[in-house]
Amino acid sequence: MFASRSILFALVAVTALAKPLEVRQTTNTNAQIEQVVDSLDESIHIIIPNILTLQAQERATDATIGEQITQLATAFQTSTSDFAQIPISSGSTTDSPTNDEISVFYADGLQQVASGLSGLGQIPELTSLSSMMTALDPTIAASVQAFNKTLPGAIGFVNTLMLDAQQFLTLEGLTQTRSALGFA
Ligand SMILES: *[C@@H]1O[C@H](CO)[C@@H](O)[C@H](O)[C@H]1NC(C)=O
Repeated sequence: MFASRSILFALVAVTALAKPLEVRQTTNTNAQIEQVVDSLDESIHIIIPNILTLQAQERATDATIGEQITQLATAFQTSTSDFAQIPISSGSTTDSPTNDEISVFYADGLQQVASGLSGLGQIPELTSLSSMMTALDPTIAASVQAFNKTLPGAIGFVNTLMLDAQQFLTLEGLTQTRSALGFA
């Protein structure tokens, strides 16, 4: 009697836990997620080359770089609100875009950002660099969290792909981004 009541209790508990999981596993929204990553990636591939050009032409100032960093922050904020509007994906390991394809795509953008900003610390004119990074950091971290929420666990593979580039995040003081990516 005691044993069967325990089993019943265990079953009820398992059912209660299983319900929210069933809800999240109904729809594969990977195609919508990819569109958001694509649009973020497009912005990154405009802004980072702009920053590198300003550096190369010795036109990197608080004003010129600051404007680009603001645009970068806006791009990440847009991705965060766009991710949040997509139903949590059941994901797919077989149908393109697969979970891994999207993670590779997202990680590529983050790598561009991490390495693209890594030279800025050597420009003495950039007296506001650390406050720029302080403003940028939470916008990237929020995007990473929203991405990992809408495509559950996708950050796991992004973490692996970022193992080399994480040194730049440290250099740039992007600590919230590091921790959102699962780095200590
Ligand atoms: C990413 O999402 C998974 C599954 O929802 C969760 O277990 C994990 O803690 C999240 N990772 C990070 C770094 O937030």
